[in-house]
Amino acid sequence: MKRAYHLGIIGHPVSHSLSPIMHRLAGEAAGLDVKYEAFDTSPRELGGFFDRMRTGWLDGINVTVPHKLAVIEYLDGLEPEAARVGAVNTVFRRGDKLIGDNTDGYGFLHSLRENAGVDPGGLRVFMYGAGGAARAVAFALAGAGANLVIANRDGGKAIKLAEDVGRAGGAAETADWNALNLIDSVRAADIIVNTTTVGMKGSGEGALPAMQGIHEGQVAADIVYRPLRTPFLQAAQARGARALDGLWMLIHQGAASFTRWTGEAFPVEAARARLLAELGESNS
Ligand code: ATR
Repeated sequence: MKRAYHLGIIGHPVSHSLSPIMHRLAGEAAGLDVKYEAFDTSPRELGGFFDRMRTGWLDGINVTVPHKLAVIEYLDGLEPEAARVGAVNTVFRRGDKLIGDNTDGYGFLHSLRENAGVDPGGLRVFMYGAGGAARAVAFALAGAGANLVIANRDGGKAIKLAEDVGRAGGAAETADWNALNLIDSVRAADIIVNTTTVGMKGSGEGALPAMQGIHEGQVAADIVYRPLRTPFLQAAQARGARALDGLWMLIHQGAASFTRWTGEAFPVEAARARLLAELGESNS
């Protein structure tokens, strides 16, 4: 008898999520009977969803936009990472309790190490953005010993994030999104990360400032994966930097969730090939 897991993802909307494809593939690879569904759940349906989950209906879920913060009040506990970041992307069971975890930061850090071959410890990282995704990335980078410079269109959010990272023992300062000398901060970085939604398919207009500061020898990482080669990554590559696309982060956060639920390894390379095909991209 194969071990059976009933899993899923909640978001709103969620129909474009790649998670069902990669977790079903992982289930097959591990010889498990995995049912992974996408649950389009509106904010006012969240309470009912978790009441039902508590009855044993589901073994685990991923959580995506816009519920990563809102789900916390329905859970019985948080792993330290989720508590630090203040957001949950994975829910699992511990006995009869529902526990929230956050594997986004791990996913990003692991993609940097495994797929770009860079350990950020002691390096300077310039980060565009201070939203929800930025928080997970910032805590992971700071926890790994990176020195962060955070710039966000809404500067108040950058200051808040830098303060939170500092309180957690990390090194983070801010730079002014609109300042002429922002280019100096970009130039001085070893790694440049876009955590904003700028460049994401369907997200409208918007541009990242000071990209002229990017140069050879740097790593440019985007957490956006639709399109795979974002305008930011294209510009960075044209300026001689190495590019790390956001699909690797998606895969590694999924891998950590899958292992958390099942205890089994996740087929990273096979998932990459499958998702590239799904996105209509060739392997790179
Ligand atoms: P997520 O959970 O995906 O991080 P979010 O919390 O809404 O989503 O954060 C979106 C990020 O993209 C923020 O840093 C946001 O900047 P603001 O805090 O100033 O809103 C950034 N962002 C979105 N659209 C942008 C644009 N057109 N120009 C610059 N930054 C933008």
